[in-house]
Amino acid sequence: MIKIAVLGYGTVGSGVVKVLNTNAKLIAKRAGQEVEVKYILDLRDFPGDPAQSKVVHDYNIIAEDPEISIVVETMGGTKPAYEFVKKALQSGKSVCTSNKELVAAYGAELVHIAKSKNANFLFEASVGGGIPIIRPLNQSLTADRIEQINGILNGTTNYILTKMEKDGSDFAGVLKEAQQLGYAEKDPTADVEGYDACRKIAILTSLAYGQQVDYEDIYTEGITKITAEDFQYAKALHASIKILGSSKRIGGKLYAMVAPQMIREDNPLYSVKGVFNAICVTGNMLGDVMFYGRGAGKEATASAVVSDVVDAVKHMNVNVMTIWEDEKLEVAPMDEMKNRFFVRIGIGEKAKAKEVFTEGEEVDGGVEGEFGFLTGEMTEKAFREAIAGFDSFITRIRVGF
Ligand code: HSE
Repeated sequence: MIKIAVLGYGTVGSGVVKVLNTNAKLIAKRAGQEVEVKYILDLRDFPGDPAQSKVVHDYNIIAEDPEISIVVETMGGTKPAYEFVKKALQSGKSVCTSNKELVAAYGAELVHIAKSKNANFLFEASVGGGIPIIRPLNQSLTADRIEQINGILNGTTNYILTKMEKDGSDFAGVLKEAQQLGYAEKDPTADVEGYDACRKIAILTSLAYGQQVDYEDIYTEGITKITAEDFQYAKALHASIKILGSSKRIGGKLYAMVAPQMIREDNPLYSVKGVFNAICVTGNMLGDVMFYGRGAGKEATASAVVSDVVDAVKHMNVNVMTIWEDEKLEVAPMDEMKNRFFVRIGIGEKAKAKEVFTEGEEVDGGVEGEFGFLTGEMTEKAFREAIAGFDSFITRIRVGF
């Protein structure tokens, strides 16, 4: 019998207890022994909840109990999660977490501590919720050089963009609706500004290359400026608009960004709708492989956390190797990245646009008083400098085709 503690009894933490109860027998069979939740750490009490008898308010009870061999961290944020997780690992306990802020900021250090203690720091649920992506990157895609990762890494924003596309509605109205349905937080900033996806692409890229990629270095643009008119143009291009977390290695340089992009049907991410997430990884031998599923939600995310618990039980006192060196992998300056752009300007500057963007292709989105066009491939810097000369510039969206 393995005894574990769950830190944080919110959506994911209570989901972990539910998954462990619902599938207790088969989890015991797969882990090789029964898994019992001995403690739940939370500031609150949960009168009437069967788990109430396990609730403690002092982390030291867990940290100092030698019977606890696995700590599940589902608190979110880095304070006090980092301190708690570090302490658990230093005393030889394994940690399974769903916390992307913690993993993006301290992953390399925590992986290293786990290794030094023959324990494990596992974080399958930190990216893509229930989608298996961390274990595949670590243990399955080991024969390939990873060339590119492209992912729809946030359910809230994919829901909003899907709904805007379907109903022809504007961002603000759909956000409100998403909040009422519980698909967006009361404070939606981390999702709609792309910060959540940024941490996730930083984690995936760090694992793909085995080195620390700082999320602060990744150019991040959210979806708050996307409009119903943008979708009209996208439709004319037989494209959709998705916010993607992307990283690729070209000629020894790493490029990474989170930004809305127009993609077409031939892109496997095109048909990922609503709250679903998907991650497309390109290996130099394998080609494209895509992972698809529920990127958020109580049971789906908890399922991924419990899969880590099973892994930790199966590898008690044996470190499952994760290569994540703390030596920083530099992200190339955004100015150097090459992209194509879809651009909207006032109709009065159409002739000038044709002169400046010689490779431009006109796009008829049926919006009066405007000129829409696609540029050829150019660096971000060249685009920025060229577009600065247009007084009637409205918007631009990067193009992934
Ligand atoms: N807010 C996140 C999302 C939750 O919408 O994907 C999962 O990280």
